Amino acid sequence: MSERLFVKRLTDFSCEYQGPFVTKIHVFDDILSTNAAVHELARKGAGEGTVVIAQTQRKGRGRFDRVWQSPKGGVYLSLLLRPKAPPEKASLLGFVAALAVTYTIRSFNLPARIKWPNDVLVHVKKIAGILLESETDHTHVSYVIVGIGVNLNTDLALLPKDVRMNATSLHKEHGAPIEYEEFLTTFFHQFDRFYQLFIAGCFDQIIDLWKQDNDTLGKNVRVQTTNGVLQGTAVDIDEFGFLLLKIHEGKTVRVTSGDCTVIDAS
Ligand code: BTN
Repeated sequence: MSERLFVKRLTDFSCEYQGPFVTKIHVFDDILSTNAAVHELARKGAGEGTVVIAQTQRKGRGRFDRVWQSPKGGVYLSLLLRPKAPPEKASLLGFVAALAVTYTIRSFNLPARIKWPNDVLVHVKKIAGILLESETDHTHVSYVIVGIGVNLNTDLALLPKDVRMNATSLHKEHGAPIEYEEFLTTFFHQFDRFYQLFIAGCFDQIIDLWKQDNDTLGKNVRVQTTNGVLQGTAVDIDEFGFLLLKIHEGKTVRVTSGDCTVIDAS
């Protein structure tokens, strides 16, 4: 593993999880980006179930090339998946991850909900974000990296003001610090559950579960896409997890990716 990516290994970490999904966990104090590290491992042939976790990231990346601020106290992890699934279904792995994070947060009695496509919110504030990166061609998925950032015991004051305004943490919502290893162990179990559905091809079930837990459908939303802003009612998602947005009577468009803001409940 190159020093460029992996700065210092943690020595005092143990995670009780020994389930079927995770095959190897690389744990670091500080890293540039856990997603970048998993890319490097994947290119060298690492197998499904390889995980990289770090206490802090110096170049954490978010969706749309944004920076993901990664101070101490948060969870920063990336999972390597090599599913034998049609490439067009790969985007549903974001739903798998969002469901796993949502159920994990709920296990701490917090009312987590999902904002399309896969932000996890508590009391309408972002508590976790998910970044999917993949190597696919038209017929085959070589690998998918699921990167997850969670504001666990993050000191929100360390986040930039524009991020902080719309963010919360498990610590804040719970009123006490959350045990890091308990969170991770629960998360890996939950991820296993939902990923098994994906591998079994139960895509409709994943979509149904996502619909039960989402905070977007039925609402008036504004979606920032790479081609501009769209506004309308989020009426449904399709079989690939894309958003169906009714922009006016008789015109519904399919949005494949974007940043969604709820304007009001309609
Ligand atoms: C988002 O923009 O909401 C997605 C944020 C994803 C951040 C995580 S932190 C762990 C992993 N490594 C990265 O560099 N990014 C993802």
